[in-house]
Amino acid sequence: MGEKIAIYPGSFDPLTNGHLDILNRASNIFDRIIIAVAQVDSKKSLFSLEERLALLSESTRKLKKVSAESFNGLLVDYAARKKAIALIRGLRAVSDFEYEFQMALMNRKLSRERRGAHAVETVYLMPDEKYTYLSSTLVKEVYRLGGDVKSFVPKPVLTALKTKFKHRSAQI
Ligand code: PNS
Repeated sequence: MGEKIAIYPGSFDPLTNGHLDILNRASNIFDRIIIAVAQVDSKKSLFSLEERLALLSESTRKLKKVSAESFNGLLVDYAARKKAIALIRGLRAVSDFEYEFQMALMNRKLSRERRGAHAVETVYLMPDEKYTYLSSTLVKEVYRLGGDVKSFVPKPVLTALKTKFKHRSAQI
């Protein structure tokens, strides 16, 4: 069998230490991991697609198996183009389960229609328990309200948050 390629899809608005924990775990299983940033909801995101990709590249420089790209359209089609055998998702708590279950089964169905027996599998990895309560949404909110997010995000993201909110408050 050839290289085992996995896709780690998401919004990454922005990347957190929880995402990095999942990437480290995935690196022990797969030969190559492509972080796939979805081009959806760009109006609602804090960081532009380009900013998110730059932050991902900078923050994963030490992870040799990891690269970052963006995609649009169906995730399963993108995964097929990349010859990926798996989709990786992090699972923090039971509250994640329903959405994830739905998505995994929908992706399996869509992938099976296109790839038959070689349908893509979704692999769930549990981050360290210290990240159970961590999410990109909460990081943004806590930072915006003046809370300390230093221990939740990699350095480049912290710097980017500072810059982003400086500009934002200047606009108001
Ligand atoms: O980090 P998120 O926002 O939970 O990631 C959701 C994401 C990007 C994985 C999901 O919305 C997605 O796969 N979008 C691409 C379009 C698609 O294939 N949708 C059907 C999924 S069942």
